Amino acid sequence: MDGLTPPTDPLELRRVFGCFPSGVTGVCALVDGVPVGMAASTFVPVSLDPPLVSVCVRNESLTWPRLRRSNLLGVSVLGGNHELACRALADRQGDRFKEVAWRSGPGDAIFIEDAVAVLACHLYAEMPAGDHIIALLLIAGVRADPEGEPLVFHRSRYRKLAVA
Ligand SMILES: Cc1cc2nc3c(=O)[nH]c(=O)nc-3n(C[C@H](O)[C@H](O)[C@H](O)COP(=O)(O)O)c2cc1C
Repeated sequence: MDGLTPPTDPLELRRVFGCFPSGVTGVCALVDGVPVGMAASTFVPVSLDPPLVSVCVRNESLTWPRLRRSNLLGVSVLGGNHELACRALADRQGDRFKEVAWRSGPGDAIFIEDAVAVLACHLYAEMPAGDHIIALLLIAGVRADPEGEPLVFHRSRYRKLAVA
């Protein structure tokens, strides 16, 4: 392991993980009639047949135990102009939806207005994965605006795609 640092320092690991650019999703649903949601950059397309995606959720999350009870979860792929919405959806205090425009989807699912793509999903399986849970979601319905600019998260900063 010449020249490699053992992965024992969480801050260093965060720095390494942060080198990997990702999109950001909002995972949201109505819970007891109230919009509940969280920003998640760990969204991964997993399978076409059956249609599956996954998100990883911190074990300590207070929001996930509420969301996971929903009959359908709304996953919104955030657009380039959703930086404020993303920050709001990650807020630890206050009403995350005060300044975030959303619309109802099927069942309990709700979607962020002007998302690049939206997926209505059933919770399919959950697997423990260290300090996170991997939630596998079975897609029930989708809609996409493939021309829309996605929000990009890289090294803890929000970015937009540049045309090469
Ligand atoms: C850009 C971004 C991406 C995030 N991605 C995740 C994620 O994939 N999984 C996760 O558990 N939390 C993620 N978070 C944190 C949650 O959005 C939120 O802050 C956290 O769930 C708050 O804690 P709570 O679940 O106890 O309400 C992310 C936050 C930001 C700003």
